[in-house]
Amino acid sequence: MAVIPVALEGRSYQVHVGTGLLGRTASVAAPLLRKKIVPVITDVNARHFHGDRLADSLMQAGHEIAWFDVESGEASKSWDNLRLLTDWMLDQGVERGDHVVALGGGVVGDLAGFASAILKRGCGFVQLPTTLLAQVDSSVGGKTAINSAAGKNLIGAFHQPSLVLADISCLGTLPPRELRAGYAEVLKYGVLGDAKFFDWLESHGEAVLRLDSQVTEQAVAHSIAAKAAIVAKDERETAGLRALLNLGHTFGHALEAETGFSDRLLHGEAVALGMVLAARYSVRGGLLPDEAARRLTRAADMAGLPSEISAMGLACDGERLVDHMRHDKKMDAGTLPFILLRGIGDAFVASDVALEDVARFLDSQLQAH
Ligand code: GLY
Repeated sequence: MAVIPVALEGRSYQVHVGTGLLGRTASVAAPLLRKKIVPVITDVNARHFHGDRLADSLMQAGHEIAWFDVESGEASKSWDNLRLLTDWMLDQGVERGDHVVALGGGVVGDLAGFASAILKRGCGFVQLPTTLLAQVDSSVGGKTAINSAAGKNLIGAFHQPSLVLADISCLGTLPPRELRAGYAEVLKYGVLGDAKFFDWLESHGEAVLRLDSQVTEQAVAHSIAAKAAIVAKDERETAGLRALLNLGHTFGHALEAETGFSDRLLHGEAVALGMVLAARYSVRGGLLPDEAARRLTRAADMAGLPSEISAMGLACDGERLVDHMRHDKKMDAGTLPFILLRGIGDAFVASDVALEDVARFLDSQLQAH
């Protein structure tokens, strides 16, 4: 088991990573659970697969659970659910000093986290992430949000959890495609700032995806430690460091928008493609050796992640993808920061990228092969 501190002035917390942690929730979270009834926000899948283990742990410690279930899927990060959830939390008598528990993937964590950010101007919450993507990314760092008609995650707040328990055994019930999509975010930590970790993933990635418990725990803990270090230095993404976590996300977001944020392209798959595109765009600008982009492509292929947009059958051109980028929430005074690469493990923020040039580059990628 690993315990990773997220060091933030006055709001530090720990992320525990290990196998079987869900069954120990009551004891690990005991100082935070001060009332008999524990409000748990979850989705139907997470409750089906993991609800009993959480319930057993809490009930053995004398607690009862009040469940708030949402449908699985991105559509649940809605104004309607936020209103229903906050009303429910008020009905449950949740006070500022109380903690609610989020059991599930990024959708549940983002929704419960945002509700906690605004309930009585902020109550506590505990994240129990059950997907690989939520464990290595969304449950750590305090970004919480819902979606609006204008786009994903446009309404939200920074609100840090008080504790995160990442139980590796939850990953066994994930559909393989979702596991692979989460792995893209693991790969991201190597690509953006840790060449040794990327090397390690080249030889251990297959074991991670096989859910070899020791190797998977190592990969998850290493990813979380990387994120914790970044968040501790740049919690609000104002110092040019946390922005590096958006590697692959600008290209990826355009592809997600073009495919309607649907199952046609999962977020992690879009991030994998986006990282490959960011690498190839860096090669095109003479910033990155071609072999580095090829290595990244091989790592995506090894994980069964998409690496060629020409294979997606998109009926659009580069300009249309760039149009999606113009609506990206990172757009700032007419420029869009791109995360580019000087090497594997050496990402940087480029604020001078011409979108017309990106459109031409994307045209060439759409037609390649
Ligand atoms: N998922 C990117 C971040 O937490 O900053």
